[in-house]
Amino acid sequence: MKHVAIVTGGTRGIGRAICEELHGAGIAVAANYGGNDAAAAKFQAETGINTYKFDVSDYQACQDGVARIASDLGPVDILVNNAGITRDATIMKMTRADWDAVIDTNLGSCFNMVHAVWDGMRERNFGRIVNVGSINGQGGQYGQVNYAAAKSGIHGFTKALAQEGARYHITVNALAPGYVDTDMVAAVPERVLEKIIQNIPMRRLGTAHDIARGVLFLCGDDADFVTGSTLSINGGQHMY
Ligand code: CAA
Repeated sequence: MKHVAIVTGGTRGIGRAICEELHGAGIAVAANYGGNDAAAAKFQAETGINTYKFDVSDYQACQDGVARIASDLGPVDILVNNAGITRDATIMKMTRADWDAVIDTNLGSCFNMVHAVWDGMRERNFGRIVNVGSINGQGGQYGQVNYAAAKSGIHGFTKALAQEGARYHITVNALAPGYVDTDMVAAVPERVLEKIIQNIPMRRLGTAHDIARGVLFLCGDDADFVTGSTLSINGGQHMY
């Protein structure tokens, strides 16, 4: 049977590349997005992949969105929790709203989306869940206590859920990208970005497809003994 995948935050950046890699492997893909209608329309026209607009930080919206996707494409057996935002500021300047937005969108979304697909995966005795963490969840980052906490939370979430999923052949893995050439990284001040690139042994930013190929591996039928792991793809910037 053809696999069905949902990629959150799937119409731009790393999410878009993940959708393209999964689609290219013959998987039926649904690309979720949160707000940018123009980017979603462009993505759909260029890739032929259906888009679904809902807020992943909203529990009920995830239940409804996943039900809509299952009715269009069939039962969902692959979930890629990729949606993420930044609200960078040093701790004294960071507001409670900046904290909540990043925790709810980046980490709360993983809970919401997993709750919407878990029962079905258990019943069918198969599932692939990939959570996109970050090098900054592994090592922290100046100006990102909210983002680092959320991404670090994703790494713990992954390891705990992997233990629950194993008996149902649901694998749960994290992928930790380094700095990738996307709109999110383009928002980093240029002089700061220069310093960051100097600390990457490969001396370049990653591409979205560098990351997406790792996700494709973790979603594959052949990866059924890989669970609870963190695949770091960062040009050597962080090695432990
Ligand atoms: N790496 C290295 N040095 C950094 C840094 C970083 N990520 N962020 C800030 N610094 C340095 C600055 O270069 C500066 O050093 P100097 O005084 O020697 O020039 C010092 O810290 C203070 O920084 P600012 O003057 O910029 O302080 P600010 O209060 O005006 O702004 C800030 C603070 C909003 C955090 C701003 O520095 C910033 O946006 N930094 C980038 C933070 C970052 O790396 N975000 C990652 C976004 S991409 C992402 O999150 C995707 C992913 O998963 C990897």
